[in-house]
Amino acid sequence: MNLKGRDFLTLKDFTPEEITYLLDLSAELKDKKKKGIPHDMFRGKNIALIFEKTSTRTRCSFEVAAHDLGMGSTYLDPTGSQIGKKESIADTARVLASMFEGIEYRGFGQEIVEELAKYSKVPVWNGLTNEYHPTQMLADMLTVREQLGELKGKKLVYMGDARYNMGNSLMIVCAKLGLDFVACTTKEYFPNAALVAECEEYAKASGATITLEEDPQVACKDADVIYTDVWVSMGEPDEVWEKRIKELSPYKVTSQLMSLAKPTAIFLHCLPAFHDLKTKIGKEMGERFGITDMEVTDEVFESPQSKVFEEAENRMHTIKAVIVATLGE
Ligand code: CP
Ligand code: NVA
Repeated sequence: MNLKGRDFLTLKDFTPEEITYLLDLSAELKDKKKKGIPHDMFRGKNIALIFEKTSTRTRCSFEVAAHDLGMGSTYLDPTGSQIGKKESIADTARVLASMFEGIEYRGFGQEIVEELAKYSKVPVWNGLTNEYHPTQMLADMLTVREQLGELKGKKLVYMGDARYNMGNSLMIVCAKLGLDFVACTTKEYFPNAALVAECEEYAKASGATITLEEDPQVACKDADVIYTDVWVSMGEPDEVWEKRIKELSPYKVTSQLMSLAKPTAIFLHCLPAFHDLKTKIGKEMGERFGITDMEVTDEVFESPQSKVFEEAENRMHTIKAVIVATLGE
């Protein structure tokens, strides 16, 4: 398998075999890290990390992965560069590509990271856009594989806003790898029809199924994985909180919903999560709407079925695999 020189913008661009190869490489690199086997084979190389939205996991994963691989990394924060304000994406791409071996981009529209990749002669990695979050998918699938042994035929239920980066990307990866994907939400929050149709095509080849379901009691039955994400994503206006809390509350992951799933089922969340009031926004919403949590209860989040921190750790191992595969040894 040779992914050298490839951009990593959405999993739509990758075959099931290529995705599986990246998962296998992630597991191999994770094993090396755990055993303390050095893998700093990219000494002397450097990567640029552009973040137009904030991050904990993705930024740290790229930085730690780069360090483990012997590489330097430069972080450009949402205010710390000329991008988009004084310098076009095309010019930025050409400047950065002349100094770095790879470029990570987190930001708004997918067309921005596509533009960056178009003008960059080095690989560009999507660290989250409004539409997709492909590096997260590798961590999620690695976690499911580690916890449940295999991917094919597993039922993954995504609860909440299924039109955005997480819902879209989970549908794509499940369709490619043969999982049964269920988007459980109201009609307004279902993924867009064109993407569903595209994923139906992938599903034909992999044996996956795609279901759009409004009733959480039906959706969660016999699930292997119940997954959720915040109800308001980065970059969305504060005004939408009230509407989202009202409309998505029936899709909160509770112990009652978890009890409908298989006894072996796991709970996943890309994080950060509103499972209590210990954050600024959580506290504010708690006071405004009289709630103690949002997309998941604290009970589920802290339960043995919750594998969210294993999942978060896997961000680093999988991002490292993307860097290794696309830069090539
Ligand atoms: N899951 C995820 O992408 O987390 P960060 O926003 O902290 O990078
Ligand atoms: N949907 C969330 C994912 C965060 C990792 C967001 O875009 O803010």
